[in-house]
Amino acid sequence: MNSTNKKGFHSICVKDPIIDGLSAHVPPIYATSTFSYENLDAAFDFFKSGGKNKDVFTYSRLGNPSVQFVAEKIAMLESFGLNSESDNENDAFGMLFGSGMAAISAAIMTTVKAGDKVITQGNLYGTTNELLFSFLKDFGVEVVYADLKDLNFVEDAIINDEKIKLLYIETPANPTLACYDLDALAAIAQNQGIKTIVDNTFATPYFQQPLKYGIDFVVHSSTKFLNGHGTGTSGVVVGKKDAVMQQKLYGIQKMIGGICSPFEAFLLNNGVKTLPLRMEQHQENALQLAHFLQQHKAVSFVNYLGLENHADHILAKDQMTGFGGMLSFELKGGLEAGMQFQRNIQFCTLTASLGTADTLVTHSASTSHVNVPKEQRLQNGITDGLIRVSVGLENIEDIIADFENAMS
Ligand SMILES: Cc1ncc(COP(=O)(O)O)c(C=O)c1O
Repeated sequence: MNSTNKKGFHSICVKDPIIDGLSAHVPPIYATSTFSYENLDAAFDFFKSGGKNKDVFTYSRLGNPSVQFVAEKIAMLESFGLNSESDNENDAFGMLFGSGMAAISAAIMTTVKAGDKVITQGNLYGTTNELLFSFLKDFGVEVVYADLKDLNFVEDAIINDEKIKLLYIETPANPTLACYDLDALAAIAQNQGIKTIVDNTFATPYFQQPLKYGIDFVVHSSTKFLNGHGTGTSGVVVGKKDAVMQQKLYGIQKMIGGICSPFEAFLLNNGVKTLPLRMEQHQENALQLAHFLQQHKAVSFVNYLGLENHADHILAKDQMTGFGGMLSFELKGGLEAGMQFQRNIQFCTLTASLGTADTLVTHSASTSHVNVPKEQRLQNGITDGLIRVSVGLENIEDIIADFENAMS
């Protein structure tokens, strides 16, 4: 029997707090833009505090109960086991946003200002790269690209350029599932006094907890595996308990206004309840599909972290507790084979997203990256015949039969 109040990861996913006066079992969707004041003194107190009291709700851009408890739940998952002393006392704070990009931009704005630089990898999610490279440039923030596997280079770059104030990491990364060493990178950043952000969308806190390694902020496109059903867009920022950073992020959310809607938060919470079960099954199916693809004559290579021949298998085994549900593979026939594969797919879904209950397939070179110059595309591992798969929860035999047919 559990003699403490500390609850397990699955329990945190499943259980919800009672947040209304009627003890609704499932927290209601507070579809309201404003909350009325109990009395004038409460209003005075709220405004005097500059809106700092997160437990007082006044206006849904500043906070909404349907949103807040989900943010706290995800923060608890990201920091699960971090501090064995606390009985599910949250060691981290979380905020929900209207999309992954709203969350990512808010986290970046919390850590840098005009004149600063961000050091990051070249294979970031496309829009994050665009945000850093094109958009933030106009606001005086520059990007330094580095191979984040080259730890000496990263360390030297930070030491030699005092303008670098943020190390931004996406691991595992699209579409090759490259992984970066969180322990080593967090140590370098901490030694040099710069902040770190990790995009944990692919792994989710079920398989990877960047805060454990000393990372400052974790961001998610919770549109993906956390929601798990493709029913809405949302994003999350989780940070280690730090009053200054929390207040800064809260201020950005308040001023930019990218908060998650109560309805999307409700959908996200429904997804989080089954996160561990789904992630286990995504992984199980992904491993079986990877083994099938690996021996297929039309396939030249498979990128799946669970395969021992993946370049980052050992690192993933070390810093993650599982290999996830994402894989990619190269068709020997290149561009034409990739396009034909998409035409032949009948059972799985052709779409550029990921992390839903069903299997999603994309041939990046002819769809999402069709307008990216070939050289740039190849540099980021998006080869002519590369198919990216978000492996779903269907019977694996049905997924394999569809792939077999599409490759024949
Ligand atoms: C790794 C990663 N990060 C961030 C995002 C952006 O998230 P959203 O589409 O929810 O804004 C995506 C979207 O595909 C993604 O794959």
